[in-house]
Amino acid sequence: MSLSRLFNPRSIAVIGASRNPDKIGHVILRNLVEYGYKGKIYPVNPSANEILGLKAYKSVLEIDDEVDVAIIAIPADKVLEAAEECGRKGVKFLVVITSGFSEAGNEEGEKKLVEVARKYGMRVLGPNIFGYAYTPSRINATFGTKDIAVGGISFLTQSGALGIALMGWTLMEELGMAALVSLGNMSDLDATEISDYLADDENTKVITIYLEGLKPGTGKAFIEKMRRVVARKPVIVIKAGKSTRGSMAAASHTGSLAGSSRIYEAAFKQAGVLEASTVEEMFDWARAFSLLEIPRGDKTVILTNGGGVGVLATDAAEKYNIPLIDPSNELKNKLRKVMPWYGSVRNPIDLTGGALVDNYVKALEILEESDEVDNIILLYCRTAVLDPIELAKTLAEFKKKLSKPIVAGFVGGADVREAIRILNKNGIPTYPSPERAVSSLAAMLEYRRIRSRLGGVA
Ligand code: COA
Repeated sequence: MSLSRLFNPRSIAVIGASRNPDKIGHVILRNLVEYGYKGKIYPVNPSANEILGLKAYKSVLEIDDEVDVAIIAIPADKVLEAAEECGRKGVKFLVVITSGFSEAGNEEGEKKLVEVARKYGMRVLGPNIFGYAYTPSRINATFGTKDIAVGGISFLTQSGALGIALMGWTLMEELGMAALVSLGNMSDLDATEISDYLADDENTKVITIYLEGLKPGTGKAFIEKMRRVVARKPVIVIKAGKSTRGSMAAASHTGSLAGSSRIYEAAFKQAGVLEASTVEEMFDWARAFSLLEIPRGDKTVILTNGGGVGVLATDAAEKYNIPLIDPSNELKNKLRKVMPWYGSVRNPIDLTGGALVDNYVKALEILEESDEVDNIILLYCRTAVLDPIELAKTLAEFKKKLSKPIVAGFVGGADVREAIRILNKNGIPTYPSPERAVSSLAAMLEYRRIRSRLGGVA
């Protein structure tokens, strides 16, 4: 069954929609309502007539309508009966929030849950999850933050608590999300199947996954399926539980086989999945993928107003295998005209600390036109003569004329932070350090190489 109705349901029932505003079932219902889901919402609670102004039903069987998705948030010993009723009702997807299944030694209960689902042709997300969200359908069926920034990043997570925490963090960082899926015990739907669906989702530009481990015996399938995903969309994974102690912690957390870090590294490489080493790095890269088209080539220039950050970016470019071009004499002559005589027309192109908005714009116009350049790393250090917000606003405008991928590193204080925000909002992935900008472009270039190797559109 396609997962389309999970992400674009016509109706959602919340089984265990509590009247108590502090309970999980209530919070999920509230988030669904307040985030603006436009389909039908049916609270199910045997002891309530109305919750949050919506008519409540004693059982899912009482609902006089088709139900595409049922969110289940009742204690574990009641889940099977509710699942059975959902099956009889013709529900298509069970999203089981409830804990107390295989992660707690109740393998039998989890097996039975999947059996019930199979019997009726339902699919199961979970159990032991914080829910899921899909911003294009205005679905927030989680007990995380009420609001979610909209964008092209889809995030799948095997850790619930981290997922909820990252919902708040992505909102603060204004990282736009498409789907957000808590994977939990992956009794049925798993990371590969959801990624496979999202690879064809027009709202998803990049898939990010927090992974603790795969189920024993699923490694080969992971590689094969992920290769097909990666041929369509970039996938970034952060693998937790790489240290010996960490892998023991992961085993008791989600029951996954954390395994040797080298085996996972090799599997990710074969699958063409990009492996980030920190959560921050994963979302840095994801930001670039969500805002830019995949680069057409790898010839790159650094444009800066500060020698120091230019050198740092150059070191980072070498570390990450980004080819920095040596500009031709013709290109150098053009660049010389837009900077003081003591600037540098070599790569990094240094407009010097006296650079004004106009110097950046003119240099960008030249770089945009030049066949020698595919990508631009734009750096800015706070100076007394150039207001970062003015530069950001001008660049945001200029971006409309720019066809080449551009990443930026802006270094400085509070007003620079605001400039970074403006740039990110306007489609230029911008970071508070040169290295993070370079690393993000490097991830895109790496993906470009992987995709052409896998036979995707280069
Ligand atoms: N159908 C529908 N509603 C039912 C029901 C049924 N068969 N049986 C009970 N309910 C109602 C209850 O009456 C209650 O509503 P009320 O507060 O208005 O009376 C509501 O559903 C919730 O039931 P309750 O027994 O109060 O459960 P709970 O809210 O204390 O706990 C879970 C339910 C699912 C939250 C809990 O079992 C659990 O698993 N918690 C962990 C969840 C988690 O952390 N998941 C992983 C995150 S990463």
